[in-house]
Order: sequence, then structure tokens, then C-alpha cells
Amino acid sequence: MEFFLDTGNIEEIKRISRLGLVDGVTTNPTIIAKENRDFKSVIQEICSLVEGPVSAEVIGLTADKMVEEALEIAGWAPNVVVKVPMTEAGLEAVNRLTKEGIKTNVTLIFTATQGLMAAKAGATYISPFVGRLDDIGTDGLEMVKNLKSILNNYEFDTKIITASVRNISHVEQAAAAGADIATIPGSILPKLWSHPLTDSGIERFLADWEKVPK
Ligand code: E4P
Repeated sequence: MEFFLDTGNIEEIKRISRLGLVDGVTTNPTIIAKENRDFKSVIQEICSLVEGPVSAEVIGLTADKMVEEALEIAGWAPNVVVKVPMTEAGLEAVNRLTKEGIKTNVTLIFTATQGLMAAKAGATYISPFVGRLDDIGTDGLEMVKNLKSILNNYEFDTKIITASVRNISHVEQAAAAGADIATIPGSILPKLWSHPLTDSGIERFLADWEKVPK
């Protein structure tokens, strides 16, 4: 399974990259707004730090506008992936961009059939939002499981990015469901490797080590 960081924060990306855990980065307009910097410069800086795919989202609502923005964004760095919303216009844009050889990530997916449509249109990645579904009382991970079976059944190359990750269990279940990638906020990722029993275990070992005759 690959891990993407769901962030626009350069320090976070640098810190977690040191652990060899950053296979890519995803952003969205909300994430970019937090950085209080120009969109293009943030994306270009991230692309220079991370070898893997970096998603940058269009804001246009028509297919023409999305394609126009996507062509510009795709020129910012070789590892940019254009994020497109899951709408009729978004599907048309993905279909057109795929024919131009531009990689896409279809975002805001809330049903397995939406994911199937995006894969059929040619999306490189699809991003089911599990946390936002859980928020409204729907099992987000169940949808990821169905999506994985559907993509396998028809041998699509499209990769699933489990998005809107809120906790460790989302990552564990996404991995068990066979999701290709989980995109995880910098605040959640450290919870995947830390455990209070590890910390108390180290404390105990160090205290006992003091009793060893020197
Ligand atoms: C994914 O690409 C999105 O940027 C992100 O996971 C959305 O997460 P949220 O629901 O916590 O905003």
C-alpha cells in the first residue's frame, strides 16, 4: 500500500519524508488556502520535494474550464496529477485529458458507481471520501471494498486513493480492502506508528538499565 500525505504544508512533508513514508501528496482548495501562499508556488515546491504524484485541483465547473486549468497545472511539474470533481463536466474533462496523456484524480467520490464511472472515463486515480461518509452515518469503507471488487472484476488500471481519512482504523480497513493508496493528514499519520505501550516500554527499559552495574 502507498501512503500519500494530504497536506500543503512543506514542513510536514519534509519531516515525514525523512521516514520514507511519503509516496505522493494530495491537496485540495481548502488545504491550499491554509498555506496562505500562491497555488502554483506551493504545488511546484511540493513537486520538487516528492518524487511521486502530487494532486492539484481545478476549480472550474465546466469541462472546457477544467481542461483549460488542467493543461496549465500539468505544465507546472512532471509529477503533477490534476484533480477533477466527480461531476458530468468532470467526467468529460477526464476523458479529454486522458486522451492528452494527462493524469487525473477524480475527487469527491461517495458511491462505488461514481468510482466506476470515473474509472470508465479514464481516471488515473479515484478518491472515495470515507470520513465524510462516516460523518453522515454511511459506512465509507464498505464502499471502498465494493469499489475494489468492481475495479478488479473489470481489470481497470485506475488506482483507489482512500481519502478523507480521520483515524487509524480507516487506514487499517482501507489496507484490508485492498485500496492502493491512503492519503492521510499529517496530524493522523504519526498515530499509525506510535503506541503508548511502546513509550512506556522504552521508559521501563531505560529505568532498568540504570540498575545494571556499570
Ligand atoms: C483528498 O484528496 C482530500 O483532500 C481529503 O482527503 C479530504 O478530506 P476531509 O474530508 O478531511 O476534508
